Parts: sequence; C-alpha cells; structure tokens
Amino acid sequence: MPLITTKPMFDLAYGGGFAVGAFNINNMELAQAIIDACAKESSPVILQISRGARKYANMRYLKHIIDAAVEEHPDLPIAIHLDHGDTVELVKTCVNDGFTSVMIDGSHHPYDENVKVTAEAVKVAHASGVVVEAELGMLGGIEEDVVGMDAHEYEKNVQKFLTDPQQAKDFAARTGCDSLAVAIGTSHGAYKFKQEAKLAFDRIEQIMKTCPGLPLVMHGSSSVPQEFIDLVNKYGGNMPNARGVPEEQISKAVRSYGVCKVNIDTDLRLAMTAKIREVFATKPAEFDPRNYLGPAREAITSMVRRKLQVLNSAGKAQQVNQHWEKLGKPVPSFYKSGRAA
Ligand code: G3H
Ligand code: 13P
Ligand code: ZN
Repeated sequence: MPLITTKPMFDLAYGGGFAVGAFNINNMELAQAIIDACAKESSPVILQISRGARKYANMRYLKHIIDAAVEEHPDLPIAIHLDHGDTVELVKTCVNDGFTSVMIDGSHHPYDENVKVTAEAVKVAHASGVVVEAELGMLGGIEEDVVGMDAHEYEKNVQKFLTDPQQAKDFAARTGCDSLAVAIGTSHGAYKFKQEAKLAFDRIEQIMKTCPGLPLVMHGSSSVPQEFIDLVNKYGGNMPNARGVPEEQISKAVRSYGVCKVNIDTDLRLAMTAKIREVFATKPAEFDPRNYLGPAREAITSMVRRKLQVLNSAGKAQQVNQHWEKLGKPVPSFYKSGRAA
C-alpha cells in the first residue's frame, strides 16, 4: 500500500482506546528502527519530519528512505507528516514532496493570526487530499526550531497556557483542521519539569466535549526514562535533572481520555545516545560506525516497541488497513498520479 493519511488511523483511534505514535526521523537508522519496531508489533505509525530534519538530512534522502520502508513493509499503514510546520509555503512544499499529513503550528501567533494561517494551510493541503494538524495553546520546553518556554517559567504559569476548550471549538470550526495539538501539561525536550509531571486530564475531557469528533494530539510526550539518563551519565554524558511525562500518564491520556496521536522524539534520541556512549566508553578502540550505529538502531527499536505498548497501538495495523479499504483507499493526489501507489 502507498503512504496513507492519518484519517483511517484516527477514525479507529478515536474512541478505540489507542493512539498512533508519531516518531521523528532524521536519518536512515531512526527510520529503520521505527519501522522495524512497528512491523514487529504490527502497529500503524506516523513518521514525522521537522524543519530541522529537512535541513539536516535533505528531503530527497529522507524521501527515498521512506520509499524503501514502504517497499520493505507493503502492509504497514504509514503516514508521513510535517512536524511543526511554520508557514503555508512549507506546507505547499511538503504536499509536493508527498507528505500525507502536515502540521501548521501557529500557536505562538495571536489567536486571529493562528486562525488565518491555519485556515490557509488547510485550504492548500485539502486541495491535494492531505490532512492538517493545527495547534492551540502553548507547550513548555525548548528545542531547536520549536518555539517554547523555559520549564520553570512554564510550570509556574501552566494554567494560563493550557488550551481553552471554547476557543478550541471556535478554532476548529473556523479553520477546518483535521486534528488538534493541545496544551494539556506536556512539554518538549528532555528537561520538561522541575516537579513531578501532572497532565491536566480534566482539560482533555473538556476539549473532547467542546470538540466532539476532533482527534486530539499530544506533543512533548517523551517520558525521559531514568534508566536511560543514568546510562548517558554513567558513560560520560551530563544530563542532570532531566525529567519527562511518566508513561502511566501517557497511557491514561490515551486509554481513558481518548488522545489519538502522541509525539515522541526525545526518548528515541536518548536511547540512541545512551547506546553510542556505552559502546564508546566500553570499547574505546571501536571506530567502525556500523558497530555503534547498529546497536544504537537496536536500542531505538526496543524503545519504540515499548512505546507502542504504552500507546496500545500494537496489533492495530490490520484493522487500520481494513478501514482504509472500506473508505475506498483514499490517498493524496501525489499518489493518485501514479507514484508509489
Ligand atoms: O518537537 C520537536 C521535535 O522533537 C523535533 O525537533 O526541531 O530539533 O528536529 P527538531
Ligand atoms: P518530545 O520532546 O517529548 O519527544 O516531543 C516531541 C514532539 O512533540 C515532536 O513534535
Ligand atoms: Zn512537538
């Protein structure tokens, strides 16, 4: 099957007690590891590409890596998604590059400007059968290319930054977005909180009520498992005070509160870094990249398999495929024109 949009995935995830994992790719090893994990767990997956990833890897290379993944795993439902797109121009470029889903992140703009840029992005993407994720509210944490806020400042004022349920209703109606990234207490990066994380479950519930049928997305959902931080630090790293969202809270947001898409990048970076550091520290004579990138790739695969259990998406691939067929096998026009279908 060709790359598909997230629609058949979210149709089932909504009310189905599972979420689709959206994992960031920047190179071949990350893509292979994620796809390998999803094939082993029979899970639908969203591969997401940030502006930083486009710059780092060159979209042509990423495109061919993804095509190879589709050829290797023809039965795996895979969507390719722009993560944190900032302009309508970039959305257009990604639609032409064969993305099946795009995010337009206007959350740092004043509300009316967010509505305007999102509605424009929706118009452009929908014209080609591509779906759109938008964002409303403000997340904490800082990553290269993602607008965010210092963890401490964020925590002190978190209530003020959470997504407003009534505004979400107005926003969804005025923009026509297909899914909505919401601020409900998660945060980007490895240093999310000074205190224990506490997701605003009541806020998810309220947004679900004001926006029935709209799939909700949780960014900043890495758990920053302590055992990986310990490994990084043991083998020469320096990551004091790293902290994430406990997996039980992610699982609860998905299984009991209906979140449909969960974004995870930091935990994959941690798994990769911990393993490479371990090889360098324990085998100082090693200099063949295959002998540290190979184990790193395996560590990422294990991390993704663990996440697919947390998200309860393991074993859902076939259902998604069947639903996609029932919908009439919809694909963006890029694929209808003959390429990759
Ligand atoms: O939320 C952002 C993702 O982790 C991507 O990060 O912009 O450094 O590629 P990046
Ligand atoms: P983490 O930094 O928690 O992995 O979040 C990634 C993300 O939200 C990508 O959009
Ligand atoms: Zn994000």
